[in-house]
Amino acid sequence: MPAAKPDTPDLDLTTEEARTEHARLSDAIQEADRLYHQEDAPEISDAEYDRLRRRLEAIETRFPDLAGTGAASTTVGAKPSEKFAKVRHAVPMLSLGNAFDAEEVAEFVARVRRFLGWSEDAPLAFTAEPKIDGLSLSLRYVNGQLETAATRGDGEVGENVTANARTVHDIPATLAGTGWPEICEIRGEVYLSHADFAAINARQEAAGKPLFANPRNAAAGSLRQLDPGITASRPLKFFAYAWGELSAPIAETQSGTLQRFADWGLPVNPLTRTFTDIESMLGHYRRIEADRAGLGYDIDGVVYKVDDLALQKRLGFVSRSPRWALAHKFAAQEATTVVEDIVINVGRTGSLNPLAKLRPVTVGGVVVSNATLHNEGYVKGVGGDGEPIRDGRDIRVGDTVTVVRAGDVIPKVMDVDLAKRPADSQPYVFPETCPACGSRAVRAVNPRTGRPDAIRRCTGGLICPAQGVERLKHFVSRNGFDIEGFGETYIEVLFEAGLVRQPADLFRLDFETLKAAVVARREA
Ligand code: IVH
Repeated sequence: MPAAKPDTPDLDLTTEEARTEHARLSDAIQEADRLYHQEDAPEISDAEYDRLRRRLEAIETRFPDLAGTGAASTTVGAKPSEKFAKVRHAVPMLSLGNAFDAEEVAEFVARVRRFLGWSEDAPLAFTAEPKIDGLSLSLRYVNGQLETAATRGDGEVGENVTANARTVHDIPATLAGTGWPEICEIRGEVYLSHADFAAINARQEAAGKPLFANPRNAAAGSLRQLDPGITASRPLKFFAYAWGELSAPIAETQSGTLQRFADWGLPVNPLTRTFTDIESMLGHYRRIEADRAGLGYDIDGVVYKVDDLALQKRLGFVSRSPRWALAHKFAAQEATTVVEDIVINVGRTGSLNPLAKLRPVTVGGVVVSNATLHNEGYVKGVGGDGEPIRDGRDIRVGDTVTVVRAGDVIPKVMDVDLAKRPADSQPYVFPETCPACGSRAVRAVNPRTGRPDAIRRCTGGLICPAQGVERLKHFVSRNGFDIEGFGETYIEVLFEAGLVRQPADLFRLDFETLKAAVVARREA
């Protein structure tokens, strides 16, 4: 699949225009960083973020006087939250330069060779490994014992999340094996599998709590908890891929270092390989991209790193990223289309879940015609008290919207293009009665904030057929009784036929009744 290259900026700007745009981009990037890193609640897609950063960089290349003047020019991430004690990283936690196509990867390799003064054919090895879409964490081991775990924060100062990291099964409290240096900082990514993310959101929904937008936010929200008990209840995972302070060298190559991490009991990504030519690096990228949906966790590209650590040292860093590494991003999993209708599904707990019916569009190779609009607050853009809400969007039928797919999670509507909104467009009127049973549907007041919930719920309880069906589906699902082979269609058929109304009815069913109901439905 061709990677979507962010808009190549036309830089026909006067100095004054460049200054204005630079300031605007810089502010937008800083705000996006804050929402992403501190609130775990991004409002723009990763692709849009990359576009902003590239435009900023292009302006700085053309107008070097502007470099370093904006809020976002050299920052990585965002300042650590006041909620946590701070940890100053002994070695800063930096970011990676991005490439969006094969040409840019070739430029990177050529740049490395040029910097080293090497000819085009001198053998040069690179590792290639998935870029995990989670949050980075630095683990400081002293004499083999985990002493501190810190988030990246702004790259210089992170948040102390040691108590939380100790609850993560993948992170050993004591390093296994032998040979680790007295001080050994191991860095990597904390992430959640798709299955665990879905289970956490199902629990959030059942408890009437806001849902996480994607596994990355759920992982960040789970690790950055004041109560380690909550972190412990979320099955976070970890892959080690980098290091900070080491009191003695541990290997001569990147690949050798990863091997040692594995020997000491840390998970390293099994798709890491070493190559000496660009074609093989790109081949690995294409294989990983093709297998992406089946991995069970989110990745957003492949990272190439010069394997030889002595060369890494010579290459060093430029501004916020190493010269010896590059993130080759996957094609954006987003597209633009039109909302043709908005319909409401009723969830197991009675939540009225709005769904956008879209003009079909291909997103990352899959045709999408439905996308979630999350809840009433998201669609209307205002709370029940009429006040704007932070992640609200004001999405209307007829709107041109950006649709985003992340891993195998249901597509969602991210942004509205207001310039394309039809002149006669009307705000979406959310139903105040349940479309399944006609009962009143209400937005309860959240006792913590004193404001109405973003979610409207049906008050019909047991009389609501939609809630009944959804409860039964949950009961047989993997997160419930895990009744194998008992799919959602069976539940719908049995419910419609009046044979199963509550979980206990399932255990009274005999095979003949079940078969007759399925056949009758097929013939109907
Ligand atoms: S190496 C000095 N390797 O991507 C650079 N980073 O955009 C060290 N990431 O902050 C980073 N997977 O949170 C590296 N295999 C990988 C990665 C990876 C995910 C994240 C990491 C980093 C960000 C940079």
